[in-house]
Amino acid sequence: MSGSGTNLQALLDACAETSYGARVVAVGADREDIEGLARAERANIPTFVRQLSDFETREGWDSALTTVVERFEPDLVVLAGFMKLVSTDFLARFVTLNTHPALCPAFPGMHGPRDALDYGVKVSGATLFVVDGGVDTGPIVAQTVVPVADDDDVESLHERIKTAERTMLVDAVGRIVRNGISVEGRRVRIGDEAR
Ligand code: GRF
Repeated sequence: MSGSGTNLQALLDACAETSYGARVVAVGADREDIEGLARAERANIPTFVRQLSDFETREGWDSALTTVVERFEPDLVVLAGFMKLVSTDFLARFVTLNTHPALCPAFPGMHGPRDALDYGVKVSGATLFVVDGGVDTGPIVAQTVVPVADDDDVESLHERIKTAERTMLVDAVGRIVRNGISVEGRRVRIGDEAR
């Protein structure tokens, strides 16, 4: 993760209830001293950092990231705002989800809320997707919609999106862990029949 970790916090809070059915086994970041790591430490969750600049090559970083994640044997990896692409090898090993603060396929990339506002859309939202090799292009797991207000700026719109995004993430991750997920082409299903 790279941001302030409110998506992570929402998952940590949900996992505190045993009925939720999921457990965060580790939290990783691509740099030190970020709020997400502090949030994990406060919840007594193991953390790790693999920083790209500490490696001679991108491949070296990719492989170190895969190795450390593998050690925790996760059923699911949630990037939750991790702002780097992970390798195809990583994606082949772990079911990996990410959230994007826009309604995919609209406004992919680093500035979803700004681009949506500049375009003049009247609704936006967030998309939870299975990560593939592209930027915010993977099969869609869930979406949530929020209105755009006439007086919104990027910050107010992103905050409204993030509130809905956290609810969507917690709901979908819980259902996936409890009931399974199946991905066939671009069609994603959550539920008992998906196991
Ligand atoms: C989220 O809106 C995420 O989709 C985007 O950046 C924000 C991260 O928020 N990539 P946080 O770090 O979980 O608070």
